[in-house]
Amino acid sequence: MQIKEILTQTPVEQEVTVKGWVRTKRGQAAVTFIAINDGSTINNIQAVVEGNNVNEDTLRLITTGSCVAVTGKLIASLGSGQAVEVKAEKIEVYGSADETFPMQPKRHSMEFLREKAHLRFRTNTFGAIFRIRHALAFAVHKYYNDNGFFYLHTPIITASDAEGAGEMFHVTTFDLKNPPKTEDGEIDYKEDFFGRETSLTVSGQLEGELGALALSKIYTFGPTFRAENSNTTRHLAEFWMIEPEVAFNELEDNMNLAEDFVQYVIKYALENCAEDLAFLEKRLLDEEKNKPQNERSELSLLEKLRFVIDNKFERLTYTEAIEILLRSKPHKEKKFQYPVEWGIDLQSEHERYLVEKHFKKPVILTNYPREIKAFYMKQDEDGKTVRAMDVLFPGIGEIIGGSQREDDYEKLLTRVKEVGIDPENIWWYLETRKFGSAPHSGFGLGFERLVLFVTGMTNIRDVIPFPRAPKTAEF
Ligand code: 4AD
Ligand code: MG
Repeated sequence: MQIKEILTQTPVEQEVTVKGWVRTKRGQAAVTFIAINDGSTINNIQAVVEGNNVNEDTLRLITTGSCVAVTGKLIASLGSGQAVEVKAEKIEVYGSADETFPMQPKRHSMEFLREKAHLRFRTNTFGAIFRIRHALAFAVHKYYNDNGFFYLHTPIITASDAEGAGEMFHVTTFDLKNPPKTEDGEIDYKEDFFGRETSLTVSGQLEGELGALALSKIYTFGPTFRAENSNTTRHLAEFWMIEPEVAFNELEDNMNLAEDFVQYVIKYALENCAEDLAFLEKRLLDEEKNKPQNERSELSLLEKLRFVIDNKFERLTYTEAIEILLRSKPHKEKKFQYPVEWGIDLQSEHERYLVEKHFKKPVILTNYPREIKAFYMKQDEDGKTVRAMDVLFPGIGEIIGGSQREDDYEKLLTRVKEVGIDPENIWWYLETRKFGSAPHSGFGLGFERLVLFVTGMTNIRDVIPFPRAPKTAEF
């Protein structure tokens, strides 16, 4: 039985065996209390060793970080804080840990824990984060399955740049010191493993669209890779993205799906991760005590999550958002670092102003200038904007990016050429607009940004087990 289950048992002196890692050991006269955790829950179980049930040599090996199996009777706990405890009769030490074990019971900085990513799972904070991450991933699959979507596995190795941003990691089997060259001195990719230049995908969308234009409703959920050199608290070089794609959906249906979907998964976490969320909420409150009053957040973690599922997201166009920003106090007082004018790519400070100061709730911005968005977005009649939508969240900024797709063959082809993509490279994508083209829409949710929001953590590197970022690929 795992500790999570044992803790729910009614104690009738039944014999149990608890296996897990020792969090703390403390002694009082002839009694030793050992707190054990096996990761199934944030709660520890207490083992009580009395008299000479367990020999001293064994007891000495039991220190913070060691791994043990404790067998004994499950009894009602005399102490406060737990309903049951184990009266130890036998202890087996699987693995000891000396005093150099880094996860000693005290508060460590997040930076320190990142350097110990192989052991940070054994802290309460990271246990909570990764149980919540699991619950959210499960909720994603449940949501789409229950709504008639098919999980489509799009390739990780690709020959096309879906976002056209040129931020891709190359995939090759060439000897980098001596790659085959063509007659004019260029690298000869015809000789490479795939017979062409390939990279790790930045998005499964293009292949996802092919699936949607037959299966009607698909979603992908896989790793994506971006070689953007952004050393921020919201960017990873390897992150997980969920990309639904739906035939016959127009932009408004797409917004409805995005809103319903994120509200569902957040609600799922609230209902299924109550103890872990309560722990993280308390952790945040403790942390905020050290901050000046005006820097503390208005809402606690749970209040913030409930707020997002109880309120409709504000919907407005990019053009309306620019007008609001131009009229805003920080703009007039020149407090924004970046200038505001129609046509700019909104910066994080602008997004956060709209979400956190102006509307005070999640915002969906639509109809962005076509020049700042990807080639595949459906063009609006005005010739200036496209049917894009970004969902912006408090503390996070952009959590979802999506659009209605261009379904007109000629318009798409023209745009592909305009942005400098060789139509030959994505002939298969273009061809779906020749055979039974249909209106369709989709979006991408950055999974780690969702986990960041739900756990209230502040750095995206703390919500993925082993972060990949510029100059960071240990473990
Ligand atoms: O806005 P993006 O670039 O959109 C796409 O990739 C589309 N193909 C999605 C689609 O329409 N099917 O990325 C989508 C989301 C962003 O909103 C953000 O949450 C996340 O992916 N994201 C990142 N998350 C972590 N690290 C990065 N470097 C990220 N880049 C994007
Ligand atoms: Mg985007």
